[in-house]
Order: sequence, then structure tokens, then C-alpha cells
Amino acid sequence: MAKRGAATVRVVGLLIVGGLIGYWIGHADASRPPDAAAATSVARGAQLVTLGGCDDCHTPKRADGSPDMTRRLAGYESSQGVPAASPGAIAINMHLTAWRGPWGLSLSRNITPDPETGIGNWTLEQFKHTLRSGVDPSGKALLPPMPAAALARLPDRDLEAIYNYLRTVPAIHNAVTGP
Ligand code: HEC
Repeated sequence: MAKRGAATVRVVGLLIVGGLIGYWIGHADASRPPDAAAATSVARGAQLVTLGGCDDCHTPKRADGSPDMTRRLAGYESSQGVPAASPGAIAINMHLTAWRGPWGLSLSRNITPDPETGIGNWTLEQFKHTLRSGVDPSGKALLPPMPAAALARLPDRDLEAIYNYLRTVPAIHNAVTGP
């Protein structure tokens, strides 16, 4: 009986300690001010670029369909070829960098920090404005399938994190030009 009593005391003791730790963790989180630096950090931007599937369309593919990270985010290269028109359908090259649809032909752009052929010269404001409005700094409306409407809904801090991360990927010189 005494043994059982001691066990009960231990269990109750553990519950109290566990409850206190839980309260402390919850309380500590709630009382911490939002971490603005973390919200716009390069690490957060890396997560968003992965989730946003930027590589799906902006990074050329290897023969097995995986993204070629040596050409990461360099966009369409003329050697990749453009798909022939296919009435009533959307046609895509195997790199997912050239798309033809009812809107015409769109080529994924170079979004590496190369200043001449990528977005290295873009200011944060230009980047945010492009993704929010779907119109790039030269005044051209972004064609499908760039998911501009979806990205436009991201809060400022997420766009800033994406911008910060994109500035850290290797710059690749590749002028995206159509046929
Ligand atoms: C489904 C394909 C697709 C996905 C996914 C995608 N893009 Fe794009 N993106 C495009 C295409 C195609 C264009 C070029 C559109 C045009 O020519 O009007 C483009 C254009 C852009 C431009 C304009 C560049 C310039 O020079 O004007 C930026 C910036 C951009 N994308 C950033 C991103 C980012 C960041 C992500 C991920 C969060 C992303 N894109 C995901 C297809 C895509």
C-alpha cells in the first residue's frame, strides 16, 4: 500500500513538473516578440523558394528530369528548344523552361543574381513590385505559367526573404532570348 502511495506521488510529481515545463515553453513563445530578422532571413527564403517550386520552371533539367543544380535558376537556354504549337493544349519542353499555350510562348527567365542577364540589379522594391503586380520593371506583364497571382498574395516579409535568398545563389550569365 505504501509502495503504491509512493508511486502515485511520483506520477503526480511528474505531471506537475511536465505541466510547468509546458507552461514555461508556451509562455516563453507567446511573450517573445516576433523575430523580424528570422522572417526575412536567407534560410526562410530558401524554404519559400523550395516550396514555391521556383526550380520546377526556372532550373533546367537533367535527362532524368531532376533539376540541374549547376544551372540553378538560370532559366531558358536556347539549346533547350521550344515546343511546337499543339492546338487546344499547352506544350512544354522537357526542361519546363519553354511553354506554349493560348497566350503565346513564354520562356522562364534567369532569376540568378547575374547583373546583366539575371535579376542582380533589381532592388527589393522592384522585386516586390514585380511579384505583386505581375509586371516586371521593363513594364512587361508576366505570362503564364509564372504563378504571379499566387505569389502576389505573400506578405512583404516572405517576398523579402525570397529576394534575400535569391541574392545568395550563384550568378549565371544566361540571356534568355526567344527564337
Ligand atoms: C510553373 C512555372 C513557374 C514557376 C513555378 C515559377 N516561375 Fe517565375 N517565371 C516563369 C516564367 C515562364 C516566367 C517568364 C514569364 C514571361 O515571359 O512573361 C517567369 C518569370 C519570373 C520572374 C520575372 C523575371 C524577369 O526578368 O522579368 C521572376 C522574378 C520570377 N519568375 C520569379 C519566380 C520565383 C521567385 C518563383 C518561385 C517562388 C517562380 N518564379 C516560380 C515560370 C515559373
